[in-house]
Formats: sequence, C-alpha cells, structure tokens
Amino acid sequence: MLAVTVVKGDLRWQRRPDPVAGDTELLVAVRAAGVNMADLNQRRGLYPEQHLETLDIPGLEFAGEVIGVGRQVTRFQVGDRVMAIVSGGAQATLAVVDEVHALPVPSTLSWAEAGGFPEAYSTAYDALWSQAGLTLGERVLVTGASGGVGTAGLQLAAAMGANVVASTRTAAHRERLRQLGAQGVIDPRAIADNGPYDVVLELVGAASLPSALGALADEGRVVVIGGVGGTEVVVDFLGLMRCRGRISASTLRHRDRHGKGEVVLGVARHVLPALAAGHLQVQVSSTFSMRDASVAYDHFASTGKLGKIVLLT
Ligand SMILES: NC(=O)c1ccc[n+]([C@@H]2O[C@H](COP(=O)([O-])OP(=O)(O)OC[C@H]3O[C@@H](n4cnc5c(N)ncnc54)[C@H](OP(=O)(O)O)[C@@H]3O)[C@@H](O)[C@H]2O)c1
Repeated sequence: MLAVTVVKGDLRWQRRPDPVAGDTELLVAVRAAGVNMADLNQRRGLYPEQHLETLDIPGLEFAGEVIGVGRQVTRFQVGDRVMAIVSGGAQATLAVVDEVHALPVPSTLSWAEAGGFPEAYSTAYDALWSQAGLTLGERVLVTGASGGVGTAGLQLAAAMGANVVASTRTAAHRERLRQLGAQGVIDPRAIADNGPYDVVLELVGAASLPSALGALADEGRVVVIGGVGGTEVVVDFLGLMRCRGRISASTLRHRDRHGKGEVVLGVARHVLPALAAGHLQVQVSSTFSMRDASVAYDHFASTGKLGKIVLLT
C-alpha cells in the first residue's frame, strides 16, 4: 500500500507492507481520511503511536470500502461502505479496523464527508452526551466552533434541544455557524459577558477556559477536549464551588477497545439516524489528495478554515 509517513518531522508518501485483518477486523480500501490536530502533533514528534505496525503512519479516522474481513466479523461484509476511528494508520490506501469501531456510511454521504465524520462527531457526542449529560433546553457554549469538532458539537447540541452559543475568532464564519444551529455567535473576547452557560464544550483550552468558568451557571459542566489555545490555566476554585461546577477532560484515542466501542455504539444509535436523514452535516472546509498531506496539514494549522480538512486517496 501507499501511506503518509512521518520521517524526522517531514511527511512522505511511501510504500508500506499491506496490513492484514485480524479475527475481528476489517481490511478497508481507504477513500478518505480526516486530518486532526493529533496528526500535526505526531508530525512534530509529540504523539508517539501505540500500534507498532502503524508507528509512523498518522490518521485517526477514515472512510472506505471493505475488501476483506476477519474470521469472527459479524457486522460487516466485503463491499460495505464504512467509516471508523482508529489509533493511527488511517492516512494510507489500506487500513484495518476492529469492527466495533466502524460505522456504516449513509448513502447520502460523500467520501469526503464520511472521512471527516468519525473523530469529530464521536468526540463531540461523547463529551456532550456521556460526560456533560446535556439535557433539553440547556445553554451550551462551544468554543473553537469553526473547527471540525466545533461544527459537529454545535449541531449535536442544537439537535439535543440546547440553546447554543458558538465562539469563533473569524467573523466571516458567523452566518454559517448560525445556519448550522447556533443561536448566538460571539468573539471569544465576549465569552464572559454572554453567560451563564450550563455546559461548555471547551475545544480551545487555556485561551478561553477562564472566561467560560467565570460565566458558568449553577451546576454547570465544562468538558475540556482540546488545548489548541494552551493547556495550563489558574482555576478559581471558590468560583467553581459557588456554582457547584464541574470540570472534566478526556481523549478518545487513549481508551481501550471496549471504551471506544461504547462511544461508536452510541454514535450508531443516536447520531447516525439524524445524519442519514440530513439533520446533521459534516462541514468540510477543503479536500486534498492524500499524497499532498503536507500541504493539507499546513492548511489545517492556518487560520480561517471552517470545518474538516479531508485527504482523498
Ligand atoms: N480529546 C479528544 O479526543 C479530541 C478529539 C479530536 C480533537 N481534539 C482537540 O479538539 C480541538 C478542536 O479540534 P478540531 O479538529 O475541531 O480543530 P480545528 O478544526 O483546528 O478547530 C479549532 C478551532 O479553534 C479556533 N482556534 C484555534 N486556535 C485558537 C486559539 N489560540 N484561540 C482561540 N481559538 C482558536 C479556530 O477557529 P477560529 O480561528 O475561527 O476561532 C479553529 O478552527 C483540538 O485542540 C484537538 O486537538 C480532541
């Protein structure tokens, strides 16, 4: 197969041995793979991979056609269109994934949309639903709302009946974020003045967390998912105690097979039907040929994108 590989901080498009599906795994001809911050961190040498066979191949999500199945696979068959989260190795022409981490691709989705769906929607769903326990009518702040996880999170929160406030530094994105379901779109500098928030989906980190904490509603919950704006802050616990607030934080990548499978099952039950019906969209900012991954990564790191960057094989 051909794969994006990290070689001393550079990306190369190189031949690698074809992967082989284990008993519970699917072998997939990859058509599209989303780019995530973790891939950029891996290029910088900050994110050591867990799987030896994909040690130098980045990519946490992909979509493609099943071309082989392990002996114990029951949910999928050769020819199925699938999309999946993995712990690495997605940015290649072939990938393997445990069947419990794969989802069927609705017929309405393009390959680019399917390749940009799994990581962003699984992360946002898990944070809002499982960790924050979002309920009908609550007020939700989504920081970094222009990004892949942000555009997914604000749509999910709106679909769950929340009143969503989205923060973005890019004024040109405001109208689109409203179309996707945000009732209010604000500059991050206005976070403190636009509370109170019952739930905060914190995708930026230190650059916005203090303002969000200061505007937390009673019993408010903050779920920290990203630290693109810094990972260290001073927290005023008195303020948090006064509103009986909670802060939690999580990653998908570091969960075990069962933990990730639970999230994927939840997405299959609660999110896929709305996606297939067209009530949720995968906002794709731009696509690049997978062999041009380096250009795509640079684009990911630049300002002004709206949604996912996706590589196509
Ligand atoms: N925990 C997990 O399992 C998990 C999974 C996926 C992603 N993540 C993390 O979640 C975060 C969002 O991911 P993503 O894929 O949505 O990233 P993304 O597409 O790059 O979106 C992040 C958005 O945040 C805004 N932003 C960037 N730097 C900022 C700064 N210094 N201050 C304020 N705003 C800033 C940008 O929008 P504007 O410039 O328009 O404001 C950007 O579009 C990342 O930190 C990523 O590492 C975590």
